[in-house]
Amino acid sequence: MAKDTLSDMEGLKRSHYCGEVSVSDVGSDVVLMGWVNRKRDLGELVFIDLRDRTGLVQIVTDRSSPGAFEAAQDVKSEYVLAVRGKVRKRAPGMENAEMKTGAIEVAAEEIRILNTAKTPPFYIWDDAGADEVLRLKYRYLDLRRAPLQRNMEIYHRTSMAVRNYLSGRGFWDIQTPMMTRSTPEGARDYLVPSRIDRGKFYALAQSPQLFKQLFMVAGMDRYFQIVKCFRDEDLRYDRQPEFTQIDIEMSFAEEEDVWAEVEGLVAYVWREVLGVEIKPPFPRLTYQEAMERFGSDKPDTRFGMEIKDVTSVFSGSSFTVFRSTIDQGGTARAIAVPGMAGASRQEIERLTERAKIHGAKGLITVAYQPGEVKSQIKKYLTDEEISALARETNAGEGDLVLIVASDFDTAVTVLGRLRLELAAKLGMIPRDRYNFLWITAFPLLKINEETGRWEAAHHPFTSPRKEDLNKVRADATDEEKSKIRARMYDLVMNGVELASGSIRIHRRDLQEKVFALLGMSQEEARRRFGFLLDAFEYGAPPHGGIAFGLDRMVMLLAGAENLREVIAFPKTASASCLMTEAPAEVDAERLAELGLVLAKEKGR
Ligand code: AMO
Repeated sequence: MAKDTLSDMEGLKRSHYCGEVSVSDVGSDVVLMGWVNRKRDLGELVFIDLRDRTGLVQIVTDRSSPGAFEAAQDVKSEYVLAVRGKVRKRAPGMENAEMKTGAIEVAAEEIRILNTAKTPPFYIWDDAGADEVLRLKYRYLDLRRAPLQRNMEIYHRTSMAVRNYLSGRGFWDIQTPMMTRSTPEGARDYLVPSRIDRGKFYALAQSPQLFKQLFMVAGMDRYFQIVKCFRDEDLRYDRQPEFTQIDIEMSFAEEEDVWAEVEGLVAYVWREVLGVEIKPPFPRLTYQEAMERFGSDKPDTRFGMEIKDVTSVFSGSSFTVFRSTIDQGGTARAIAVPGMAGASRQEIERLTERAKIHGAKGLITVAYQPGEVKSQIKKYLTDEEISALARETNAGEGDLVLIVASDFDTAVTVLGRLRLELAAKLGMIPRDRYNFLWITAFPLLKINEETGRWEAAHHPFTSPRKEDLNKVRADATDEEKSKIRARMYDLVMNGVELASGSIRIHRRDLQEKVFALLGMSQEEARRRFGFLLDAFEYGAPPHGGIAFGLDRMVMLLAGAENLREVIAFPKTASASCLMTEAPAEVDAERLAELGLVLAKEKGR
């Protein structure tokens, strides 16, 4: 059908959404607009499932309405239709219990084709669906699918709930610039070249961190913003280069004040969006305890299998690998995997491979099989060691104990990862739990693995704890640096870091000391952050705050596995958009205008 013969909507006004026609409308005339989900042509009878964002409704037509029947002949999947007709009950036995509108159908009196559609590259109704590359290229079609429409609705309802709650608590929604100077959050900046000031660049904000602190200096008292942030970093299931934060800052606030607001917000959002009651206050765990028990600073506490310290069991071991590791100040840690004592040799080898990928030199297992114990190091194990190991790890008959002997960090992180992998594989993770918890007392500094230099674990504006201020000196030893704790906290749910924040430094002298501790010269500190240091000299109030990943929050609310399922137009793992094909090359003239010359790279 040629476009110019297509009908328009003249004289027809939509009366109902497709998914909202119900038994109470039986006998009424309705006008519906939507897309053809599927058509079934039985010759004398044509069925069309018409779809809009509320769902589907069945349209029926036969020769008793010749105009509609004739139009239906031309209809194909994804055509856009206006349908006028009468609602009637489906014939007995023809109801569809899986469809919200499955008890009724609409007998069409008029069908107008408002637009045609090419055969889509994948079927919208087929959830098992097309491969993701195709879905992202035709994202506007992908977004027609019911699961994504649902996720977009959850996104909308979440951000509305957040706005309502925070506004009701006296937080003001104020915007901050996106084109700014570097805001260090630990990632690379996306840079925007200046045309007017050639050779100079804006950085896209990694977060509004500095601006929200300046709002506190400016007396705004309570601020929030739902804001885009940009970070050039390695991407994962829960990381996008462009993502959205719920950014919050409060004056005259300490940890408990921030936590109370956040717990109230979370409880409100979960109630509004899912109808689920969350009960604050949330449990709190120090960073150290989280690492010891779960080998992660974002522990999934929906299941047990906690890591245990078994160093004392093996301190006199005749197995030299254990003994020498422990003698050199290392540690032995273990988890008991329920019901896995019967694991085959191949399964044990696979586990050992995984342990090595996660950084361990090796993995020792002890299988508590009925009536016998099996282990690669059986001949080195005494009966006391075997029973002490079972006692320390709570292992019973049928369990498999995994042991890593190493430095503390390696031992716990390797076991922490195996714990997660095994729990997923063994179906130990309950799906209907929302386990929120606060992780507190993080170290202020950490060593950057790439550069070997100390850097801020959160960001350089986080206040050290009062007890550790004496170690905040440019000449602090590595030992001292590693011991400084920060007034920082993360909100974790089901193994995902949902939000992160801190009480800030609000005095120039302390901020300068922290910059110096990070190896920044006074000159560099002044050049990069002079405006902040200056502001602290004009009456900066004590303040603190936090930022949620809004996309992550929606991912968890929607039960999605990847941020791409809840972000309307996401980027791929290589930070590109398959639909617009961004990033793209730009014209030579634009580059010249910006004073940029591309370096020739091999292979380009
Ligand atoms: P942080 O860098 O920890 O803190 O970020 C806060 C929260 O934002 C989310 N998040 C991301 N979500 C998706 N993709 C990403 N690439 C990504 N990076 C971070 C996470 C994280 O917990 N200015 C500080 C906050 C503060 O101190 O108030 C900040 O940005 O859910």
